[in-house]
Amino acid sequence: MADVILETKRLTKEFKGFTAVNNVDLSVQRGHIHALIGPNGAGKTTCFNLLTKFLGPSSGQILFNGRDITRARPAQVARMGIIRSFQISAVFPHLTVLQNVRIGLQRQLGTSFHFWRSERSLQQLDARAMALLGEVDLDNLADSVTADLPYGRKRALEIATTLAMEPELMLLDEPTQGMGHEDVGRVTALIKKVAQGRTILMVEHNMNVVSGICDRISVLQRGAVLAEGSYAEVSKNPQVIEAYMGTPDGAPA
Ligand SMILES: Nc1ncnc2c1ncn2[C@@H]1O[C@H](COP(=O)(O)OP(=O)(O)O)[C@@H](O)[C@H]1O
Ligand SMILES: [Mg+2]
Repeated sequence: MADVILETKRLTKEFKGFTAVNNVDLSVQRGHIHALIGPNGAGKTTCFNLLTKFLGPSSGQILFNGRDITRARPAQVARMGIIRSFQISAVFPHLTVLQNVRIGLQRQLGTSFHFWRSERSLQQLDARAMALLGEVDLDNLADSVTADLPYGRKRALEIATTLAMEPELMLLDEPTQGMGHEDVGRVTALIKKVAQGRTILMVEHNMNVVSGICDRISVLQRGAVLAEGSYAEVSKNPQVIEAYMGTPDGAPA
């Protein structure tokens, strides 16, 4: 039996009679990079908002590691290890790269302020922050002011601040959006790297990225799952082609 980290059962979200997410059954396998794709308005971001408890579902269930988290609060699911990146601009532009990651670590530690009394603790914190920067290849830019970083590097920093929260499941909503070719390649490689020992659920429009790094793909259309499988499987599914191209054979309408 597959080791499922996240499961949704008939997950549904209605906004004043409009069904944005409609009876969605998702099953994300531990260790996978799982993509959620679909045309604009398909309900991808709403799904993410339901998973992080930013929104409450109208009906249905969410299970994380077999545990029902449908009624959990946002802070609870974050503590359990479901962390979303690129949700808000999670970095402070006027601080250095190292300071930003340190803030992420301090957030994780929460209210244990006694920790801050010892100089030695602060050194340990810096060592951990540098290790995280190393994971995203930013250790050589630790003392740079964040505002001065190129766009792709800022996204790498956002991933480092997310890693500081010790995610078991990372949710990435359009991580390569608005990026040039070079940054897309860099951030894609980075996602693949940080996926080691973690699980990633990502919304992505760039099919090169999806085919390059995603183990499994769920296609949403009008709030419902249209198809699911490997890239090879979903990309030749006539219904998927129709959803994207408007005609079953992919020819211009
Ligand atoms: N808070 C809201 N109130 C009303 N309608 C919403 C709200 N959020 C999203 N929607 C609608 O739900 C649908 C799905 O939106 P969304 O999840 O953002 O799609 P996607 O991320 O796939 O582009 C869209 O038609 C959108 O207009
Ligand atoms: Mg969206």
